[in-house]
Amino acid sequence: MKLLINGGCTLSGEIEVDASKNAFLPILASTVLLDGECCFTNYVNLTDLDCMREILGLLNIKSVLLGRELYIDTKHIENAKITHDLTQKVRASIFILGALLGRFRSAVIAYPGGCNIGARPIDIHIKSFKALGVRIVEKHGYIYCFGENLHSGEVFLDFPSVGATESLMMCGILLKGVTVIKNAAKEPEIVDLANFLNACGANVRGAGSDKIEIVGVESLHGVNYTVMPDRIVAGTYLLAVATCGGDVLVKNALAKHNESLLSFLKSACNLDVFSDRIRVKANKRPSSIEKIKTLPYPAFPTDLQPQMMVLQSISQGVCVLQENLFENRFGTAFELKKMGADITINSNLACIVGVEKLFGADVCVCDLRCGAALVIAGLKAEGYTSLSGVELIDRGYEAIEEKFAVLGAEIKRTEIE
Ligand code: UD1
Repeated sequence: MKLLINGGCTLSGEIEVDASKNAFLPILASTVLLDGECCFTNYVNLTDLDCMREILGLLNIKSVLLGRELYIDTKHIENAKITHDLTQKVRASIFILGALLGRFRSAVIAYPGGCNIGARPIDIHIKSFKALGVRIVEKHGYIYCFGENLHSGEVFLDFPSVGATESLMMCGILLKGVTVIKNAAKEPEIVDLANFLNACGANVRGAGSDKIEIVGVESLHGVNYTVMPDRIVAGTYLLAVATCGGDVLVKNALAKHNESLLSFLKSACNLDVFSDRIRVKANKRPSSIEKIKTLPYPAFPTDLQPQMMVLQSISQGVCVLQENLFENRFGTAFELKKMGADITINSNLACIVGVEKLFGADVCVCDLRCGAALVIAGLKAEGYTSLSGVELIDRGYEAIEEKFAVLGAEIKRTEIE
């Protein structure tokens, strides 16, 4: 599947941000802990979420989609081995480990393996569960977890891993006593997971800080829940307008979740910031931002680094972009160079000398956010861009071509390879 883009337009109109993929994934995984039914009011058609539903199906959890409403029924839940075919499709499947351990005291899951942006080890997850008494055997690509001695306790994470924080939080919900996660990740998606679990009857305190306390409860019940807006999708739209120019109201975008991005964007465009929407107006070539580093929240997110790279590649001046989370996340640079960008990579630094124009080219998506970045580049470029590997974009952006078409872009999907 390909996207064909006729670039050179500015963007205008209104666009609404969907629910967050990275919040929805662990929340869906955490339904393993519930007894009863749940309704999510704002499902998004993303292949990663569909895959998490497939995993729930394997555990005999029913999920039915009616429009945007997703109904989950855990009444007939059973433990099952999470197989390789599923863990390969979505890396976040590993998050379900904590929920399975919390619910059944045992879990078997295929190793998620690496991905295009880096090796992505799970040593922090494993070490944390061991600290809570879980016996772990890794063999033939599977992780066997035996939790007969699983207990609450204090865990210090060597690095504030988002996935490890979420998985541990799920594990502690039904344990007797208090589980404390120190050096926890502080991402808003972790707060949303805690909000969901608390709405179901859990007792999680401190999510959003580096110390999370989980006071164990006997059981959880179902609720109706609306998942938080996707701050990375919101950031992608804002960066698209800053790059292409135009005037767009981005609705359902929470400014408080994107403070580092907004502080950078202030120099590139005009922003009217409200609590739940942001209007962005851009009508001149922006100046480069001298130095940008990706770091854990609330600093600049790695998931917006490729999109930011596109903005810097057409800005006036020189930018040094430092990637600190994933060792192989500069794939976008190689594709952008085909479009005329001037980027030199040295280890985890990208030196971007802004050019006046990008030109349409045949480019290939190497990972989800690279895909979003190349769409922005295609919209900005002079002439036609053909983008292959669109399936990777569908993991985290629902019908991206329709969203940008509403803003006046000439972009369409074709089945032709
Ligand atoms: C989540 C997000 C992803 C985002 C990332 C960093 C989801 C579904 N995905 O991924 O979009 O890019 O946070 O903000 O929420 N690490 C280890 N050992 C571990 C775990 C992590 O070394 O056991 C390393 C990773 O390789 C990486 C860093 O820690 O370098 C951060 O990873 P982590 O925060 O765990 O990211 P994910 O939860 O996988």
